Formats: sequence, structure tokens, C-alpha cells
Amino acid sequence: MAGHADAMTLSERADAIEEHMMHELEHLVIKSALFNLADGRLDDDTALIARNPGKYLLMKEDPRLPKTPPKPTLIDYFKCRFASTSHLLQSAAHAKKSGHGEKVIMACLLHDIAVAGFIRCDHGYWGAQMIEPYVDEEVSWAVRAHQALRFFPDETVGYQYPEAYVKWFGPDFQPEPYIVDEYNRALNHRHYMTARLITLNDLYSFDPNASVDIEEFTDIIGRHFKQPKEGLGLDSSPSAHMWRTMLWPTRFL
Ligand SMILES: [Fe+2]
Ligand SMILES: [Fe+2]
Repeated sequence: MAGHADAMTLSERADAIEEHMMHELEHLVIKSALFNLADGRLDDDTALIARNPGKYLLMKEDPRLPKTPPKPTLIDYFKCRFASTSHLLQSAAHAKKSGHGEKVIMACLLHDIAVAGFIRCDHGYWGAQMIEPYVDEEVSWAVRAHQALRFFPDETVGYQYPEAYVKWFGPDFQPEPYIVDEYNRALNHRHYMTARLITLNDLYSFDPNASVDIEEFTDIIGRHFKQPKEGLGLDSSPSAHMWRTMLWPTRFL
């Protein structure tokens, strides 16, 4: 047995552990294709179903995740679904301290929620779409545009190309043409500065020792985020399904 385990590659071992964990659960958890793509696999996991006859597939909340209230609010997502909130909270706190308006603070608070709880690639677009039905158009527009603006300096406000990006992506990294186009379109938009301020407050918001509580923004959220009475994600807005997907990321259908 030990010999067999030694012969397994690291990823085979990880798969075996994962499958063992699945067996421990009452229902069978099948991953979405996208989750497997993120593991570098074109794999639909349906073979798992064949190996588990008689077990029902998960069609409700995932018992491994924090339990959310029956009518979740934006703050509940911060607490129960976002993997990391410190960057968002620090950005918003920095905007508040700099004396910016509440819409800018709100935009900073929400600018990377796609990274925190959903999908990284094109996170500005995903994040904007998620919040669009619930916030002022200025806030969602700015969240979408920050996707492109963060790659381009603006000397008038003292924003430079982030040194972190040179470190993370290498000195030769160039944004794709769709990002360049988006940037050029954003330049003359009436909300350009709101998006620019997201990027400006972004830079100062990676302090590992800073601690900001979401409760600090309860009032601003109350004034600028239209909380649906059914619960965020349980309503019928055009982006409710995205929030539901965060609530129940492993529902079979
Ligand atoms: Fe971002
Ligand atoms: Fe950010």
C-alpha cells in the first residue's frame, strides 16, 4: 500500500485525498468544468458519479463552507464567501481617509470582489456585472474600468505603473489590445476619475498588518448598495445568479 502511494504523483495523491473527502460527505460534490480548468484539466468529473452508486448529488449549500443566513446581505458575503477582504477594506479605508466621496469609497470597497470570491481573469468586468443592479452606475462603471486603468499611469494624480506588476508579471508584460482599447475609451468618460481613484487607492492597500473591519462601512453600504429583500442572490436581478453561484458553488445544476 505504501509502495503504491509512493508511486503516485503529487497531483494523483491530491486527487485521491480529495476523492476520499468527497466520500465522507453525505452528498456527492461534482466540480464545475471551470474549477477543473483551473487545475489544468479538461475533466468533467462524472466518472466520480459512476464510482459512487446510490449517492445523491449535491443540490444545496456545500457543507464544507461557512453557513450563510437565509437572506444574505453584501456584508454576509464579505464574512462567509470572500476568501480575502483585507485588500478591499484597506482600499476603502484609504479612500475614506483621503476624504473622497462615498461613491468612490464604495467603488474601492467593491473593486476586487471578483478576485475575492469569484473569478480572477477579467475581474473588473465580472465584479462590475455582479454589482451593477445594486449600485449607482458610477460605481459599477469605475469597477469595470479599473481593470484597464491600473496598467496605465496618470501623472496628474500621481499614479504610476505599479512596481508590483513588474515583479508579478515581468518587465516585458504588455496588456492585450482589448485592455488598451478599454483604457482609451475610458479616458474621456465622465466617471474616469472615479475609476482612476480606485487604482490610486489600490496601491496603498497591501499592508499585511493593517486591520479594518467591514462594520466600518455599514452606513455607506446601507446608503449605496440596494440590498434585495429576498437576500442577495435570491432575488431576480440580472446578476443574482452570480451571487447564487458563490452561495452554492458546487450545486450540481
Ligand atoms: Fe483590481
Ligand atoms: Fe485592487
